[in-house]
Amino acid sequence: MTIHIGAEKGEIAETVLMPGDPYRAKWAAENFLEMPRLVNETRGMLGYTGTWKGHPVTIQGSGMGMPSLSIYANELIRDFGAKTLIRIGSCGGMQDQVAIRDVIIAMTATSLSTPSSGIFKEINFAPCADWSLLKSAVAAAEAKGTPTHVGGIYSSDVFYDERPDLNEQMMRHGILGVEMEAAELYNLAARHNVRALAVLTVSDHLKTGEALPSDQREKSFGDMVEIALEAAFS
Ligand code: HPA
Repeated sequence: MTIHIGAEKGEIAETVLMPGDPYRAKWAAENFLEMPRLVNETRGMLGYTGTWKGHPVTIQGSGMGMPSLSIYANELIRDFGAKTLIRIGSCGGMQDQVAIRDVIIAMTATSLSTPSSGIFKEINFAPCADWSLLKSAVAAAEAKGTPTHVGGIYSSDVFYDERPDLNEQMMRHGILGVEMEAAELYNLAARHNVRALAVLTVSDHLKTGEALPSDQREKSFGDMVEIALEAAFS
C-alpha cells in the first residue's frame, strides 16, 4: 500500500490504463476487462485489476491535472512496478481537421510548466511518447477504422484559461488538442525508463465550440480503450 493507492503489492499489473475520471476507470474495467476487481478506492480514485485477452491490466484513475496524475503515476511506477502506462482521456480539439469523437494519439506534449519544471530548470525537455506504443496504437486505430490524428498536444495547467493567446499559439503551431495530464506522464516515463502513451478522444472543440453529448460519449471512449489495450500487448 502507498499513501494514495490502497492496493497490496501484486494487485497492480505492469500495464496500467489511466483515465482522469475514476468512474471512467470503473466503466472501462467493467466493459473491457475479464474478472475486474476493485483494488483501490482511496479518496475515491478507483482502480481495478483484471485481464484483457489473458494479460493482466490495471485501470487506475489519475484525477485531473498534472499534479494529481504525478502522484498516481509515481506510486504506480516506483512502488508497484508499473512498466507501461497509457493515459486514456478526453481533450479539446484545436485544428479544423480534428472532429469531435476523433482519436488523437499524442506523439509529444507541450506545456507551460509541469511538476517536473522544478528539476528541469532552464531545460525545455521535450516529453514524447514511447515509440513502440505509438506505432502499435496507430496500427490498432487504422485496423479499427477510427478517425485518428497523430501529433503534438498541449498539456495545460488550467481548464478555465485566462490567457486565450496561449491556445492560439498552440493552434498556430499545429497542436492537435489540449488536455491536462500527458506531459507529466511522459516526463515521468522518461525519468523511470518505462513506456508511456496518451490516447485521447476529442470531447469538445475550441474552434467550433461543439461538445460531445453525454449519451454519445461511451462508444467513442470505447474505441480509445481498445486502441490502448491493443497497443499495450502488440
Ligand atoms: N481544455 C483542457 N482540457 C480538456 C479540454 C479543454 O478544452 N477538453 C477536455 N480536456
